Amino acid sequence: MPSTDEQTTPHTATMLPGQPVADAVLADVAERVAVLRAAGVVPALATVLVGDDDASAGYIGIKQRQAAQLGFASPHRHLPADATQEQLHEVIAAFNADPAVHGILVQYPVPDHLDYDAALQRIDPDKDVDGMHPLNLGRLALGLPGPVPCTPAGIEALLAHHGIPVSGREVVILGRGATLGRPLATLLAQKRPTANAAVTVVHTGVADWPRYTRRADILIAAAGVPGIIQPEHVKTGAVVIGGGVRYAGRRLLPDVDEACAEVAGAITPRVGGVGPTTVAMLFRNAVAAAERQVG
Ligand SMILES: NC(=O)c1ccc[n+]([C@@H]2O[C@H](COP(=O)([O-])OP(=O)(O)OC[C@H]3O[C@@H](n4cnc5c(N)ncnc54)[C@H](OP(=O)(O)O)[C@@H]3O)[C@@H](O)[C@H]2O)c1
Repeated sequence: MPSTDEQTTPHTATMLPGQPVADAVLADVAERVAVLRAAGVVPALATVLVGDDDASAGYIGIKQRQAAQLGFASPHRHLPADATQEQLHEVIAAFNADPAVHGILVQYPVPDHLDYDAALQRIDPDKDVDGMHPLNLGRLALGLPGPVPCTPAGIEALLAHHGIPVSGREVVILGRGATLGRPLATLLAQKRPTANAAVTVVHTGVADWPRYTRRADILIAAAGVPGIIQPEHVKTGAVVIGGGVRYAGRRLLPDVDEACAEVAGAITPRVGGVGPTTVAMLFRNAVAAAERQVG
């Protein structure tokens, strides 16, 4: 007979925080930056902000402070909200041409009249720290070295850091977006010890997607639809990773309902899961870009 406690205490999954993963990645980045600096190279991550959105200015500020702590230089250009696409491209071209700049980050979003994707395509692929340039997505598809999109790379690192086996297991990703679901599927299907999974991607074209998520050993939410993953979509004991989020003002609304912790074996926390690993991967891409450029 189960004890009274066992009858009344709901099962709670093991938490998979992202911060320890980010700390480990950033410690490695700091060491690599120190090696570069000792060789006379100051790695530089250039940032570009367009407009006066407070949240975007805040995100850029956080990244600049983190860059400085890690030993990066962070040259910055701030364009006015009415900047033209040509002006944005000129700023990118100047950073591309500057041999002292190794990585370039254009803060998202840009004002509505500007085309963010077109700007990204102007970044020298070797200075693309987001890993979202078409050439780098092609490298990812071919398994060639290059920067990997930050959120997918962060999720792979998070699974590896917490000792969750991925190889040979069934991974189901809800969402096929260009930022997250699609590159993540490519990454986790690659032939490497921390990947090597049987990956299924579901989306709005698969009306009965819960049939797939319910059989996943590792379920990754990448939809950006608050609360779309409910406990009945999760196999008992599965690993659940919340990648998709939406914001209502400053409030973060994750894809994964908190009640999933009562079914999952392990789960990312509502706040502080995938997010910190994404930022860490940006700096990992930046130091790797500097290492490649100085040989
Ligand atoms: N945590 C982080 O640090 C971080 C970083 C980057 C992005 N993100 C988040 O990751 C999420 C995905 O980003 P993205 O740019 O890849 O997304 P996206 O382009 O908006 O794609 C969303 C995907 O979800 C699917 N989807 C949406 N509603 C659905 C529904 N009701 N049923 C089934 N599938 C549904 C869409 O299906 P269709 O293709 O059929 O339309 C699409 O494939 C966003 O929430 C974003 O905020 C988080």
